[in-house]
Amino acid sequence: MKKNKWVPLLGIAALLSVNGACCKSKSPRIDVKKYTESAARQTAGLYDKLMATGERKSPQNFQNGVNRYCAYEGWISGFFPGSLWFLYELTGDPQWKTRASEQTERLERIKNLTSDHDIGFRMGCSYGNGYRITGDPAYRDVLIQSARSLATRFQPEAGVIMSWNPNKRWKCPVIIDNMMNLELLFNAAIYSGDSSFYKIAVSHADKTLENHYRADHSSFHVVDYDPQTGAVRMKNTAQGYADGSAWARGQAWGLYGFVICYRFTGDERYLQQAEAIADFILNHPRLPEDMIPYWDFDAPNIPDEPRDASAGAIAASALYELALYSDPKYADAADRMLASLSSDSYTAPVGENGNFILMHSVGSKPANSEVDVPIVYADYYYLEAIYRHRQFKKLKKHLWDGRLPALGK
Ligand code: GLY
Repeated sequence: MKKNKWVPLLGIAALLSVNGACCKSKSPRIDVKKYTESAARQTAGLYDKLMATGERKSPQNFQNGVNRYCAYEGWISGFFPGSLWFLYELTGDPQWKTRASEQTERLERIKNLTSDHDIGFRMGCSYGNGYRITGDPAYRDVLIQSARSLATRFQPEAGVIMSWNPNKRWKCPVIIDNMMNLELLFNAAIYSGDSSFYKIAVSHADKTLENHYRADHSSFHVVDYDPQTGAVRMKNTAQGYADGSAWARGQAWGLYGFVICYRFTGDERYLQQAEAIADFILNHPRLPEDMIPYWDFDAPNIPDEPRDASAGAIAASALYELALYSDPKYADAADRMLASLSSDSYTAPVGENGNFILMHSVGSKPANSEVDVPIVYADYYYLEAIYRHRQFKKLKKHLWDGRLPALGK
């Protein structure tokens, strides 16, 4: 293996497992302790609400004054257990570990779900964080089985994992969000020694690079393939403003996804793609001063359009990891996003907002569903961003000295 291949692997190992520009102005101070305390109090309230329901479900959002929950088959079921794992890492309080294990293990049966591509979200955020933190081999086995389930959706002619099942309009729709599921496959290749998981992930990433991106490095939401010939049939949107627009959360999913691909492969094309996507987002003339995007960069009534805090949180988390492999300017941008999300403009007072941490996310504006509400995945990536900020501060000087902190050299 060439020396530079170790850089992403060691970088992320250190970022994730040590216990313990683009930018519109100077980096703000990030008060990890304060943000964590407030997030922990809020999430403890949400946990109590969930337990009081007596239902085996997952918190989803808070709308019209009502906390809403979804079945474990829903795509968002891994985020609440994942948030509990991050609170355990951020606070060191074993109470969070107990809660996180209990909520994670409720998802076990989902390891066999093959009806869509979202098993990477469900199991990576819950069991994936759980295994990273505890090393429990039972968790590793669940992750390998989950990867097998995801791999059943691979379409060899097209070289992609089918996101949603065929319908009247699409034969093999692939959404940019699917890049987030590749981490499950890369990890399963390492855990099991089965390289087919790795090959599927690389094939999917390459096809996404080829077909999802425009010349300005923005992404389509949906690309539909002919599963027999592999030809691209259509390029559309489902949750964005228009087929040709830049749906904000989709840009963040793509950024995060290509950073993951670089972490596991060391392939410079993926790093360059992640940098290009980051630059698209951060240099965009319609990115507001506080760096939290509108729900779509091309939404017609900007500035009178809802923001999407979830897109800001996902991008901030991804930018911390990108900064490890690339330019520290990306961590400065992430700090600015994190500071904005932690301000009164986005963070709700404890006890309000249905006990979700962040306000102002958008699920699907075209479907008029979850518009300008708190949503569980915004909280998950916000907590991950706080955790990554803390790890990044500990590690960056070693990485840029070209030394390998994990080996103590
Ligand atoms: N993966 C679905 C969404 O981002 O809304």
